[in-house]
Amino acid sequence: MPYENILVDTRGRVGLITLNRPKQLNALNDRLMDELGEALLAFDADEGIGAIVITGSEKAFAAGADIAAMAGWSYMDVHRSQYITRNWETIRRVRKPVIAAVAGFALGGGCELAMMCDIVIAADSARFGQPEIKLGVIPGAGGTQRLPRAVSKAKAMDLCLTARLMDAAEAERSGLVSRVVPADRLLDEALAAAQIIAGFSLPSVMMAKEAINRAYEVPLAEGVTFERRVFHSLFATEDQKEGMAAFLEKRAPQFRHR
Ligand code: CAA
Repeated sequence: MPYENILVDTRGRVGLITLNRPKQLNALNDRLMDELGEALLAFDADEGIGAIVITGSEKAFAAGADIAAMAGWSYMDVHRSQYITRNWETIRRVRKPVIAAVAGFALGGGCELAMMCDIVIAADSARFGQPEIKLGVIPGAGGTQRLPRAVSKAKAMDLCLTARLMDAAEAERSGLVSRVVPADRLLDEALAAAQIIAGFSLPSVMMAKEAINRAYEVPLAEGVTFERRVFHSLFATEDQKEGMAAFLEKRAPQFRHR
């Protein structure tokens, strides 16, 4: 389908998705989330792509779920449609790494979308928050679950209950974002990180992502066993032979499975 709410581009082996509802500060609606899911799955299936970047505008990564669309809804309307969370899990089905490049507001569903990504790189202009309490609701796309895991219970409570916003420096201190860069360098830095990832052996990249995500789902002993099995399995790949041989021969590896 032609996309109305996102722009899709490729830069070398990186797929770039730009949220594009500027008048609504990239507020998320069903159509945008459908398009985002479709574009992500298309890049995931594309052999020419090794990593994906999602970004927004200078002013907003995304200012949350579209309040105008849901303001008049009844319980049954939102329960039946599941609004933007209907296909939220699509993002979790993506096996290649997804980097959120966040400038400006990442609020409500926008913050939750960033937290669904594997790496969050923030511009120094970024502001994160879960201000749904001001609307008489609570976060509905994972904010109450992922935020405490990312930044601690105390800070998640603070953000969700007071609706205050957190700047990029605080977000980095708290562990929500992996690095903060000057706003005018954001896309270049995110694309450079994605390009590095896309140059490695894709099986090991995907397995590293899967193993780290497993840490959030299972007890430690089970996670460590999972990691060990995955580590063993990578010795069946040509890229493990190539990676280790290249190290010993003091040359750059030529990975076959990228
Ligand atoms: N939904 C719909 N429209 C939105 C929006 C949203 N979440 N956020 C901003 N907009 C619209 C505004 O209505 C405005 O439209 P008009 O020009 O037609 O009036 C336009 O975007 C620009 O916004 P502002 O004029 O408000 O810009 P600002 O710079 O003064 O303020 C802001 C920016 C602080 C982000 C403010 O827009 C704001 O507070 N937005 C709402 C943030 C929010 O509450 N997000 C949570 C949504 S609920 C949710 O996400 C639930 C969930 O967990 C799934």
